[in-house]
Amino acid sequence: METETVYLNGQYLPLADAKISVMDRGFLFGDGIYEVIPAYSGQLFRLEDHLERLDNSLKAIRLQNPHSHEQWRNLLTKLLKKDLDQSVYLQITRGVAPKRDHAFPQNVTPTVFAMVSGITPHADPDNGIKALSMEDSRWKLCHTKAITLLANVLLRQEAIDHDCAEALLFKDGYLTEGAASNVFAVIDGILVTPPKSSAILPGITRDVILEIARKNNIPCSEQAISTDDMKKASEIWITSSTREIIPVVELDSEKVADGKPGPLWKVFYKLFQEYKQSLR
Ligand SMILES: Cc1ncc(COP(=O)(O)O)c(C=O)c1O
Repeated sequence: METETVYLNGQYLPLADAKISVMDRGFLFGDGIYEVIPAYSGQLFRLEDHLERLDNSLKAIRLQNPHSHEQWRNLLTKLLKKDLDQSVYLQITRGVAPKRDHAFPQNVTPTVFAMVSGITPHADPDNGIKALSMEDSRWKLCHTKAITLLANVLLRQEAIDHDCAEALLFKDGYLTEGAASNVFAVIDGILVTPPKSSAILPGITRDVILEIARKNNIPCSEQAISTDDMKKASEIWITSSTREIIPVVELDSEKVADGKPGPLWKVFYKLFQEYKQSLR
């Protein structure tokens, strides 16, 4: 097997050789942020949007971006293969401090890491995933793409333990998002998704879907969605950069409509693939 090349602090090297100190603030405190960017045939998808979100995450944790957008493009493109669809994971932590202390260390260089993995969209028109509704137990800064993902990990694992592929999260009786995805529903014929706020990550795939809906005059709305609203949904989807758009066909052991991917999902699946192709 070919050895995977990763980027770490200015160097491209085999994954097995990429090592960081146990004093890294990412390891000790989860003090860092990340991005996940799809790349189709070596072309980074909506890179400017992802880099803008990266800027916002860095600002939120009071770290300077170590690279310009152009430097990021060059740095990440070198990891990609032109004949594959892949996703780039990049992470920046506050770096390696001399001692474990909550306060920010002075004059420390951030740790910058990036790696790629394969990407395969859900394309099965006959099947979707099962999901589990759960109380959103996360913190108040969910719009920041922080590496501190323990709550998300526990929520996703609980969903998996119930034979479900995703946890749909509710705060005070209203839908926020998935453990690692945004959520859309079709309610009374309208495509709806919760509005942007600090309770959700502003997903890039979410933006693309709203753009596609508006361009094609498909009724859509960013609005609060209650647990009761969700029971009326004729379709539910989760969206993310690596999973694109996946239909949820069962929620809390109840079928969504007839338990098959819905007609609007099929329309959006096609439109999303066409949009991707147009950028290759
Ligand atoms: C909590 C959460 N919400 C939403 C998303 C979707 O964001 P994007 O479409 O930018 O991948 C993700 C992606 O992993 C996520 O972790």
